[in-house]
Amino acid sequence: MTNRHIFIYILFIWTFYSCKNENIYRVPVTGSKEQHRPEFHFTPDSMWMNDPNGMVYFDGEYHLFYQYFPDSIVWGPMHWGHAVSKDMIRWQQLPIALYPDSLGYIFSGSAVIDWKNTSGFGKDGSPPMVAIFTHHNIAGEKAGRSDFQYQSIAYSLDKGRSWTKYADNPVVPNPGNIKDFRDPKVIWHEDSHKWIMVLAARDKVKLYSSPDLKKWSFESDFGIKNDARLWECPDLFPLKVEGNEEPKWVLIVSMQSGAPNKGTGTSYFIGYFDGHTFTCLDQKKSQHWLDYGTDNYAMVSWSDIPSSDGRRLALGWMSNWLYAQKVPTGSWRSAMTLPRELSIIKTETGKYLLKSNIIREFYSYRKDTIIINPSSISSDQYRLPLDQNGLYEINISFARSEDLSFLLTSEHGDTLQVGYEAKTDIWFIDRSKAGKSDFFEGFAAKHSAPCISESDTISMQIILDKASLELIADGGLTTMTDIFFPGRDMTQVFLITQKGSKSVSDIVTHHIRHPE
Ligand code: FRU
Repeated sequence: MTNRHIFIYILFIWTFYSCKNENIYRVPVTGSKEQHRPEFHFTPDSMWMNDPNGMVYFDGEYHLFYQYFPDSIVWGPMHWGHAVSKDMIRWQQLPIALYPDSLGYIFSGSAVIDWKNTSGFGKDGSPPMVAIFTHHNIAGEKAGRSDFQYQSIAYSLDKGRSWTKYADNPVVPNPGNIKDFRDPKVIWHEDSHKWIMVLAARDKVKLYSSPDLKKWSFESDFGIKNDARLWECPDLFPLKVEGNEEPKWVLIVSMQSGAPNKGTGTSYFIGYFDGHTFTCLDQKKSQHWLDYGTDNYAMVSWSDIPSSDGRRLALGWMSNWLYAQKVPTGSWRSAMTLPRELSIIKTETGKYLLKSNIIREFYSYRKDTIIINPSSISSDQYRLPLDQNGLYEINISFARSEDLSFLLTSEHGDTLQVGYEAKTDIWFIDRSKAGKSDFFEGFAAKHSAPCISESDTISMQIILDKASLELIADGGLTTMTDIFFPGRDMTQVFLITQKGSKSVSDIVTHHIRHPE
């Protein structure tokens, strides 16, 4: 063999193995060649993830911790995984932050910056980052005890890179008979100069206060009479009503059952908080849904967003406990929703409601913007000039008296339809023919949501990232987040309008740039 032959031979072997490796290539957190892995939603590099935890902003970084089991693609002994980002879209994965210990698995919780060093954990004038989480004692659970969940803390002096668990954990012991006693979310309450913790206790939330994050006193309960559902992952924060300075308080609670389109979902109440008690605005204790899709659970907000920014930013787990452990993804399971900005509005009829919108940082990933004038649309099934990659955003508005939808299709024959039905006045996502669904009976379904807007012109924004669709309707008044598993990417989009419709606005489409 000549040198040239040897060279060609080596080149051949190298090419062969590079191609083969394509299938087992461990992708970076954002961006992927794996089927169904989203490109601009956060996913773990590998293995199982559920709730977002400990979301806190500090020194230019948004932290995202999350329920993580590094040894399997189904739920198991919980750790806190960790990632950081400068804009909440492009994430950098960091080593696991909290490991299970003799007190238990590390369940959901929150993190704060202790600016005044009330805990005394700070050093050399730098404030500590303090994580407040549930310890779930598996031995206690197996022994049939009912006090196996309690709240503990840990602190970090190096921007969340390494953690020390507090020696006197737990800081909130189980009252003795509450099996579900978990998911502490903590805020600093300036008026009473105390930390306030809200946690889920079976069918209600409990509030506690503390001067130093270590000693906690019970304040009050909030619940709905005779509620049989399990409450999880609460959040409590003040928010000004849009357009005026009126402060209100929002209590977010995730519901383990009874969500509008089955299974688990995130809800909210609007009211007041006086440092001790949360009171709903109305006596009926109206509970609203933050998202009507099936796949936005455990949504909670970031702590310590600087007041110069002033936004309330939140993120949810893009799955549903009905089928989360069975979805057909390969080496990893679950993604987070796109981060959302929450705001309160007072409607014309005097209702206070939460709006959730995609954070503005996302829009810097737009590219190839195309604006389609409706007069150029000649048919009531019009194919949009979108490209092949299954990553795009579409915006449109139209008259509430008309049906309008988008039909997304793949070369594999999968279809997903999203839109509005005038007769029933509902928004919907129909994933019944959108791909693989045999892993869970009832996954293939049409989901609907009320059109909450009080206007005659309604609007929709849809964002597709391979295997998820987020519908933000009417400026965030109704939102729906659904996942699905097409055989191939959804590469074609048809706008379906009523024959001769005159009400359709310009259609604005964008491709979304890979965040890498
Ligand atoms: C919600 C939840 C939390 C719990 C965690 C365990 O999805 O059940 O209540 O802390 O998941 O992983």
